[in-house]
Amino acid sequence: MTLHGEHTETEHLPVMRREVYDLLRCRPGGLYVDATVGLGGHSLGILERIRPGGRLIGIDRDAESLEKASLRLAASGSGFRLFHDNYKNLPLILNNLALPPVDGILLDLGVNSYQLLSPERGFSFQSDEMLDMRMDRTQRWTAADLVNNLSETELADIIYRYGEERHSRRIAAAIVRERKRAPITRCLQLAAVVSRSFRVRGHQSIHPATRTFQALRIAVNEELEGLEELLTDAFGFLSPGGRIVVIAFHSLEDRIVKRAFRRLAGQCVCDAAPELCTCPRTARGRILTPRPLTPGEEEVQTNPRARSARLRALERTETPGPEAGAGDASPDGEPGDHDDRLGS
Ligand SMILES: C[S@@+](CC[C@H](N)C(=O)[O-])C[C@H]1O[C@@H](n2cnc3c(N)ncnc32)[C@H](O)[C@@H]1O
Repeated sequence: MTLHGEHTETEHLPVMRREVYDLLRCRPGGLYVDATVGLGGHSLGILERIRPGGRLIGIDRDAESLEKASLRLAASGSGFRLFHDNYKNLPLILNNLALPPVDGILLDLGVNSYQLLSPERGFSFQSDEMLDMRMDRTQRWTAADLVNNLSETELADIIYRYGEERHSRRIAAAIVRERKRAPITRCLQLAAVVSRSFRVRGHQSIHPATRTFQALRIAVNEELEGLEELLTDAFGFLSPGGRIVVIAFHSLEDRIVKRAFRRLAGQCVCDAAPELCTCPRTARGRILTPRPLTPGEEEVQTNPRARSARLRALERTETPGPEAGAGDASPDGEPGDHDDRLGS
């Protein structure tokens, strides 16, 4: 924040930078993908380490963040291309570019500070703005649409599953009562409804609406859908020795990453007894972080948002199959509406 409380666009501090660059083994001349460019903090660090001769492909579903990142990266030099797209389309993008296998892929999941702190984006229970929460503002449905149109049971399920909120039923009932009176359109309005719906016992370190807002954000942006498949697909584009690094900010995401990595490393992902386990045990990769890495105290002090970060990394050990760069995109094979900014 500036002295006047305004948001500055460079405010998003990239999380666990040193770990990211080390694990990706960024090297001059290498080919890397940042599938969540955000404001370009990690991308910039990668570019600095892969020049001269390196290339970076960047993706983000938020056009405004990408625009800021584009200016920032362009000021630093060349060697990157940015795409406004969902990272679920990463296979399509890489296939269309017909690139050789890549050396490293980064996914720094969740939202960036610009999105969180810009009142008009409607992510925060502290701002009296329209309840929006879309990362991609070209998407049709907003958080207000969900809150005003889903059934009470659907709302309770979302709040329970994505917010891990034990008061989900009370909150959903309160939302439905309120919207009968008047549609819920503002962040503060929803935060007040949630806060009034249950009694906080003892000391609570977080705002009562925190979990509900997290749940709605995940639902609006379908953050968990297809993540495991994406990780498997992305892995297919790595060269032998290439690495994928993922930073998750809540346990739901982290569980998906852990499971995908275990599967790719040929480890069991089921709950069955060992003698009954039928998990395929073909190891295509090697887990580099048996336990997720977390930020050090110093980083958390300077960047409290890093507090909940969990970083996992996986290395490809086998030779790429036919899928890498060989057209295994969707049968339609259309590049979609990729906003291909700035080739250099
Ligand atoms: C934590 S931020 C990344 C910050 C970035 N590493 C930096 O240093 O500025 C996560 C970014 O991922 C983007 N994002 C989230 N889900 C996405 C998806 N499915 N496809 C593309 N981008 C996504 C968000 O828009 C956000 O900009």
